[in-house]
Amino acid sequence: MNKLYFIAIFLAASFITVCQSKEGSKMDSKLVTSQSFGTLSDGRAVTLFTLHNKSNATVKVCTLGADLVSIKVPDRDGNLGDVLLGHDDAQGYANDNSYLGFIVGRYGNRIAKGKFVLDGKEYQLDINDGVNHLHGGKDGFHRKIWTATVNADSPYASVTFRYVSPDGEEGYPGTVTLDVTYSWNDNNQLTLKYSGTTDAPTILNPTSHGYFNLSGNPDSTILNQLLMINADHFTPIGLGLITTGEIQSVEGTPFDFTTPKKIGEKINDDNEQLQLGKGYDHNWVLDGYDKSVRLAATVFDPPSGRYMEVLTDQPGLQFYSGNFLNGTLRGKGGKAYQYRTALCLEAQHFPDSPNKPNFPSVTLRPGEKYSQTTIYQFSTK
Ligand code: GLA
Repeated sequence: MNKLYFIAIFLAASFITVCQSKEGSKMDSKLVTSQSFGTLSDGRAVTLFTLHNKSNATVKVCTLGADLVSIKVPDRDGNLGDVLLGHDDAQGYANDNSYLGFIVGRYGNRIAKGKFVLDGKEYQLDINDGVNHLHGGKDGFHRKIWTATVNADSPYASVTFRYVSPDGEEGYPGTVTLDVTYSWNDNNQLTLKYSGTTDAPTILNPTSHGYFNLSGNPDSTILNQLLMINADHFTPIGLGLITTGEIQSVEGTPFDFTTPKKIGEKINDDNEQLQLGKGYDHNWVLDGYDKSVRLAATVFDPPSGRYMEVLTDQPGLQFYSGNFLNGTLRGKGGKAYQYRTALCLEAQHFPDSPNKPNFPSVTLRPGEKYSQTTIYQFSTK
């Protein structure tokens, strides 16, 4: 009798323990909440995920283009502000031609005339930027619905998006499977981890195209914000913003951001590279590339105190100063995004690498793994 009594107590206790741990994992999954982000005019449904952390800061991402939709972080007085340009719903993103927040690929940035040769065979990619190929083509990764998995075992909010790009898509060879994981920890650190494979030789160079304005106010320009880029060199461009293949020192040029400098300080200088880019729209050659994650850039907005550090294991960083924003693109709350009201810092391989043998290779072969880690760390000063 006594024995049975103890067995009953033991079973009851175990049951309570199981219930508690179930409840625990349920609470953990509350780190990520999801909702409909609307349905596109072609009928595709899009889901929006919100990543929460202990400081009440949030990141939103969605399944269309694995897009980074919003980042709400505090200013020095603790007021949350959205530091990303974007749209209110999925259809806004479907109509967007400025790549606000998208994962772009297969090749982020430009490939001259959309041509490259791999293992002796020439490939022709979609032409969608004058005579060149940009950001993976007209129907690149940014136009696709990615599958999403919430990483319930992660100690902080984390979602993985996957897209399988079929052989021949936008002219690229090989079937490519790409995973991009967004993780948002309690220190307001957003980590993007990319992992890709292919079933035939190809090229792969995806990047994240977030438009940042640390002021939280998209009506103010980024020209008084302070930028540092950890790079002694950049890759000059010619017509159509195609890299020339040279690697030039930034010393004594408007491209020297080795110490924090106001973005607007030299942006209107009489400089051929700035004219060709219509401002800054260039790739910097990050110092000390060794495939480890290193500090690539910092941005500081003095009035709000918001400070962002960008770390990456990539060899290059495209700094784009929002030169094509001209008030025609309407975003969140119907706001017209004006000239230079945001900046992009795109961690990547150098533009047109497949045609520049002196640039680090972007070739991916079966059995190899593409990987990238890029971190956006937010704080205040
Ligand atoms: C990239 C390019 C820019 C521009 C934007 C999108 O950053 O380098 O030239 O095309 O994307 O408008």
